[in-house]
Amino acid sequence: MEVVIVPDATAGGELIAEAIAALLGRKPDALLGVATGSTPLPIYQALTAKVRSGAVDASRARICQLDEYVGLPPGHPESYRSVVLREVIEPLGLSEKSFMGPDGAAEDVQAACDAYDKALAEAGGVDLQLLGIGTDGHIGFNEPCSSLASRTRIKTLTEQTRIDNARFFDDDIEQVPRHVITQGIGTILEARHPILLATGEGKADAVARTVEGPVASVVPASALQLHPHATVVVDEAAASKL
Ligand code: GLP
Repeated sequence: MEVVIVPDATAGGELIAEAIAALLGRKPDALLGVATGSTPLPIYQALTAKVRSGAVDASRARICQLDEYVGLPPGHPESYRSVVLREVIEPLGLSEKSFMGPDGAAEDVQAACDAYDKALAEAGGVDLQLLGIGTDGHIGFNEPCSSLASRTRIKTLTEQTRIDNARFFDDDIEQVPRHVITQGIGTILEARHPILLATGEGKADAVARTVEGPVASVVPASALQLHPHATVVVDEAAASKL
């Protein structure tokens, strides 16, 4: 695992946007896995700036989703599909056709999970997967004690994650869905290059357990230690317990 410490979130976003730019230079139709939450926003801003200035051609990039809430009505502004459309697809000038994700409104949720896992493989696999980290060490929505070999499936959110995410739902935990679809840890580890970004002191414990602790399902992000080419980018605050 490669650990890179940067001064702040902006520098982390710039560094990872550079990695995406280099990938698109080598492989213009690369499949880029994107994460939601506040942490990756500097990456999307830096990448958008590069595309708008003409420094990067992302016109053939393909984008895929990491996870999704179950049961939000289609078009809900906080469904991760809506979030990725708003924060990634539209700013980069891509079409919805270049974007794939699991169907959180499906009647048969497990069938939707299986279909998504299969679709990722049929698309040639994820070239670069962006990840954030939950305060409890989750990646995607793989909460503590998720199997390290897990595939895309339905999960129940912990109380802590629902509290953490209530800020996107008018600070009302009752509005935060209880169930989600997430790429499994095994699915995530199939990406050719997973890059986790963590910023701020609130992530320092989770980062220390991810990087320096044992590989354990109780810290799902620690599974990245098993990947031959994983990168963890942390700002100084998130690195403060390393
Ligand atoms: C959610 C997402 C994760 C994300 C995490 C942290 O749980 N499913 O992919 O990493 O939030 O979010 P933030 O970056 O806002 O702290």
